[in-house]
Amino acid sequence: MTFRKVASLSDFDSSSVKRLEVEGLSIMIIRLGSEYHALDAVCTHEETDLSRGIITGEHITCPLHLSRFSIRTGEVDNPPAEEPLHKYELKIVGRDILVDI
Ligand code: FES
Repeated sequence: MTFRKVASLSDFDSSSVKRLEVEGLSIMIIRLGSEYHALDAVCTHEETDLSRGIITGEHITCPLHLSRFSIRTGEVDNPPAEEPLHKYELKIVGRDILVDI
């Protein structure tokens, strides 16, 4: 595993989503209350920027065709997407957010 710092907790003071480009990967960190989750930021349906999606409860909905994904698991909860989002291991050290890339 190679954890690297990608964000700080203070990045989420006024927003619950942060999109990042790390080693050619587009990922998003989503804050759910006191939890943080790291997922691919590209919709598996037609590659829209999912970080611009709508968060409701534990789900994020793609703004283009409304596929809905679980933020906790990356699984598809509503089509047309069929493939889940890749989920990355994440840990918090102090106020730094580290993701296993
Ligand atoms: S691009 Fe996301 S549902 Fe179609």
